[in-house]
Amino acid sequence: MAFPFCLLALYAQFTSAIPASDALSRSYDYVILGGGLAGLTLANRLSEDPGTQVLVLEAGDVRLDDPLINIPGFLGSTVGNASYDWLFTTVPQVNANNNSFTWDRGKVLGGSTAINFMAWGRPALNEIDAIGALGNPGWTGENLFKYMRKAETFTHPDPAYAAANNLTFIDSAHGKTGPVHNSFSRFISDGQKPWLSALETLGVQKIEDALAGEDVGAWMAPATIDGISVTRSYAASAYYAPVSHRSNLIVVTGAEVNRIVSGKRSDGLVVATGIEFSLDSQSRSLSVKSGAEVILSTGTIKTPQLLELSGIGNPQILTPLGIETKVSLPGVGEGIIDQYFFGVSYELNNDSIVTLDSLRDPTFEAEALTEYETNKTGIMTIGVTGFALVPLQTIVGTANATALIDAQARKIATGNYSAVQKEKWNTIIQGLREPTKRGYIELVAFPGFFTTASAPKEGKKYITFTGNLHFPFSTGSIHVASADPSSQPAIDPHYFEEDFDIQVMASVLKFIRKLGGTGGFKGTHSNPCARPKHSTDYIKNHGGPEYHTIGSASMLPRAKGGVVSPEFKVYGTSNIRVVDLSILPLQISAHPMSTLYGVAEKAADIIRGIVTV
Ligand SMILES: Cc1cc2nc3c(=O)[nH]c(=O)nc-3n(C[C@H](O)[C@H](O)[C@H](O)COP(=O)(O)OP(=O)(O)OC[C@H]3O[C@@H](n4cnc5c(N)ncnc54)[C@H](O)[C@@H]3O)c2cc1C
Ligand SMILES: *[C@@H]1O[C@H](CO)[C@@H](O)[C@H](O)[C@H]1NC(C)=O
Ligand SMILES: *[C@@H]1O[C@H](CO)[C@@H](O)[C@H](O)[C@H]1NC(C)=O
Ligand SMILES: *[C@@H]1O[C@H](CO)[C@@H](O)[C@H](O)[C@H]1NC(C)=O
Ligand SMILES: *[C@@H]1O[C@H](CO)[C@@H](O)[C@H](O)[C@H]1NC(C)=O
Ligand SMILES: *[C@@H]1O[C@H](CO)[C@@H](O)[C@H](O)[C@H]1NC(C)=O
Ligand SMILES: *[C@@H]1O[C@H](CO)[C@@H](O)[C@H](O)[C@H]1NC(C)=O
Ligand SMILES: *[C@@H]1O[C@H](CO)[C@@H](O)[C@H](O)[C@H]1NC(C)=O
Repeated sequence: MAFPFCLLALYAQFTSAIPASDALSRSYDYVILGGGLAGLTLANRLSEDPGTQVLVLEAGDVRLDDPLINIPGFLGSTVGNASYDWLFTTVPQVNANNNSFTWDRGKVLGGSTAINFMAWGRPALNEIDAIGALGNPGWTGENLFKYMRKAETFTHPDPAYAAANNLTFIDSAHGKTGPVHNSFSRFISDGQKPWLSALETLGVQKIEDALAGEDVGAWMAPATIDGISVTRSYAASAYYAPVSHRSNLIVVTGAEVNRIVSGKRSDGLVVATGIEFSLDSQSRSLSVKSGAEVILSTGTIKTPQLLELSGIGNPQILTPLGIETKVSLPGVGEGIIDQYFFGVSYELNNDSIVTLDSLRDPTFEAEALTEYETNKTGIMTIGVTGFALVPLQTIVGTANATALIDAQARKIATGNYSAVQKEKWNTIIQGLREPTKRGYIELVAFPGFFTTASAPKEGKKYITFTGNLHFPFSTGSIHVASADPSSQPAIDPHYFEEDFDIQVMASVLKFIRKLGGTGGFKGTHSNPCARPKHSTDYIKNHGGPEYHTIGSASMLPRAKGGVVSPEFKVYGTSNIRVVDLSILPLQISAHPMSTLYGVAEKAADIIRGIVTV
């Protein structure tokens, strides 16, 4: 790109309508930091009113025409590539063999939705009710599901194809006119055919539609693939591209925000007055006019760092780094929870089956691309489809589950933990005790090799089963580690600090090995990888993050360590909000995209004054 930074308007119809320098000297009603999932959802909705001026500052590039993003079969190919990925790393995890883990996050317009695995799921209604019950009036499952449906358009599958592959859905659960498109993958590998029947044998029943408010069981899931164009539908294509012509919406890419500049009002509230950022290593600043708002949508990792760099956080962390405390808010960066997963790859005995492994052969890949371009069929249309949420009781048996849960509940009741920590943990305990109401362990059928435990063999095809811990007790933090905004924050999820988490995962590994020998999976597969001995080492050394970290700017009452109010307002400030995944105070059973699009839609209505909470 020839420009030192790129005004997105340059990509749209009116090429040079706004000179670069002009964009930064205009004044805006809303300055949105981060053009990812939440940031672009807000940018779209807030600029619906032509009289409202909206600016988005995004660190990554615009890649609307990038085939590695748009073609579904390239899923995963940009993860780990610095042209798309922030490539964060955790501090060594003392309860995971001191391993450091890479935390990939999207650094591109569209954020992590540009690089993610496109799985489209929803929590159970009661999980959002539980977030409301922590002290967030107006937060219920019913209410948020309305916004989730507003965000989506679901395309029905071909009926014969659906019948042959168990692609079922409850139509009323899905939106029909929203910006984010989703559909069932047009390609399902024969390697995963036994998924539903094998799980049924192990006591996991198929459900009609996991997006309808109850999600315990097994199902075939849609993905964020546009059912007509068969391309990835993500924040940039869904919420930005269709409105990029709006003259009241300006998106500046390549702009990395360093901090929010603020003053103090007579009522004591801190007010954002400017933004400092860098554009191709050049320092820049922008003033925020009186009455305007700044919205942080930089994601769970950067949002707490930016708050702290702006003087909003725990003085005990800020002062030693020479950062002046503007708002003492000790909850910033505390209480993060990250979902953890591992995979076991099984070699298929039938080498003719097509999986993502087939794409390692360049000739096959070229043919698959031609087929995709010509007919929009074949493996390049693929999304991940085989999912299940399994209660602990199914994995270890009812008696063992009760004993484990009782012991953990006792530990919580008698331990020296804060009241809010106990309250949050007790929501997990309650979920564990109601196994039909709250998903706990997710299993996914990934059609290809997907583990670091060994390497795939040439010409061989694999099915990988992953075990995903969706409600860990282990809780950690993300904090600024230096006053230099270009350095990473210290990311410490405290993986497996709570022994319950690793005990459960060891049982999940056993369960997965059982699945690999059940029904249609039996005999047709061999397992070259995990051995039952050293199962905890297998999990710690070859597992990793699911990229769903929540909680670094929690929506909770201030007295409970909250950072934002139910209206997303940062406590102690008059015009700073956070709208991104960091505001969730509790984990959810589902991959978070659909939920977060709903959260951002709700935020837009609150910010515009259409609803109160
Ligand atoms: C590899 C991967 C796979 C995933 N798979 C799935 C899946 O299959 N299904 C699912 O539902 N979810 C999935 N997720 C999670 C989902 O994509 C995220 O939860 C979601 O995108 C979070 O939205 P957000 O708005 O909080 O942050 P993001 O979408 O990450 O957006 C944050 C934006 O802020 C920008 N930014 C950050 N710091 C700055 C700064 N200082 N200045 C300017 N801009 C900045 C970033 O570049 C980014 O564009 C996955 C995530 C990853 C990383
Ligand atoms: C990373 O992405 C860029 C941009 O698409 C591409 O040119 C480059 O080849 C990629 N690198 C790797 C190692 O795949
Ligand atoms: C992890 O590191 C700590 C501190 O360096 C050390 O005390 C501990 O023995 C290490 N643990 C393992 C499993 O290596
Ligand atoms: C459809 O799902 C049922 C489980 O409800 C299973 O028994 C059956 O084998 C599945 N059929 C296909 C084609 O996957
Ligand atoms: C092997 O897989 C191919 C492709 O799915 C299928 O057509 C064939 O029948 C399978 N062979 C056997 C022996 O199952
Ligand atoms: C496209 O589909 C047609 C009709 O099924 C088929 O004949 C043709 O071979 C396909 N083209 C490619 C490149 O796969
Ligand atoms: C319950 O735990 C015991 C002791 O660890 C174990 O032997 C048994 O297999 C477990 N039961 C189930 C159903 O997993
Ligand atoms: C409980 O924890 C707090 C905070 O960590 C600490 O100050 C206090 O001493 C602890 N109390 C006991 C009895 O251990």
